[in-house]
Amino acid sequence: MKGVVLAAGKGSRLYPVTHHVPKPLLPICNRMTMEYAFDQLRDCGVKEVCVVVGSNEPQVRAALGDGSQFNLALSYVKQTEPKGLAHAVGFAKEFVAGDSFILYLGDAVYSQPLRPFVDKFRQSGCANLNLVKEVADPSRFGVANVSGDRITRLVEKPKNPESNLAMAGMYVFGPKIWDVLPNLQPSGRGEYEITDAIQILVDQGETVLAGKYEGEWFDTGTLDSFLETSGHLCKGGSLIGEGAVVNAEVGENVVIGATAQVTATSLSDCVILPGSKVTVTGQVAHSLLGGHVESKECVNVVAFNDERGP
Ligand code: DAU
Repeated sequence: MKGVVLAAGKGSRLYPVTHHVPKPLLPICNRMTMEYAFDQLRDCGVKEVCVVVGSNEPQVRAALGDGSQFNLALSYVKQTEPKGLAHAVGFAKEFVAGDSFILYLGDAVYSQPLRPFVDKFRQSGCANLNLVKEVADPSRFGVANVSGDRITRLVEKPKNPESNLAMAGMYVFGPKIWDVLPNLQPSGRGEYEITDAIQILVDQGETVLAGKYEGEWFDTGTLDSFLETSGHLCKGGSLIGEGAVVNAEVGENVVIGATAQVTATSLSDCVILPGSKVTVTGQVAHSLLGGHVESKECVNVVAFNDERGP
């Protein structure tokens, strides 16, 4: 079993911070977001992982290296343009080389182990197993109709969802997926959708299973979800990195990276990146800050100014 982690997205909902630090490298509880993916993959018995990178390739390679620091063998492929999940996974075909593999979205974080789902894939001999989770707002996701534990139909971001089961960012595939990918057409939003590829497997009569995940699932793509993930993993507490200097009242869910220098009246529900210099005369709340930030107050802010200023 191999691992393929998608990390080629632009992270545009966390601009400008993700112009400087790619989303998969953003620290959550002072660990890179991708490290949580690596923990899960190792736990599933994976030793070799291919990271699909985009224009963030230099920073991602520099930070993750050959993977020895994570006890994994890492390799990289570059997706030329972010044209969809099925497009991205296509670049990993040579790496997977006929093996089974776990496809993992690089911005997903799970509170519970995924190993039972991978075991179910192994034991069942199915063509594909997908993690699904009941959600309140299914139209934001790929949505699965399920009968027993089989997926019967899949729709990407339906306006009128027929079920509340979202495709939850982890997929296990056998080699049949490679025959399907060349036949895909772009979807209404112009992307090659992994949900469409899986629908073709279903239409071909392959066994496609749903693994119903009951734990918490975070996607770190927006300020709200990033801070929620941080709060969950840090258990609401605060975490001050080595060498950081903080002149502020520190409240709940505050993570300050190593060597950051921070001055404010109070800090709450925020992440300040390593090495930052943040000088705020009022409060910092519900914000993600990096680089050099000078402001009266930061509430609901994503900011990163380099040394030349805003
Ligand atoms: O979060 C789960 C959802 O992820 C599923 O329910 C959907 O079925 C699936 O299509 C996907 O939806 P999104 O539109 O929200 O995916 P997003 O664009 O956020 O990309 C997910 C990850 O994949 C993210 O880490 C970036 C990476 N990615 C994305 C695209 C479009 C790539 O590496 N290459 C790409 O071309």
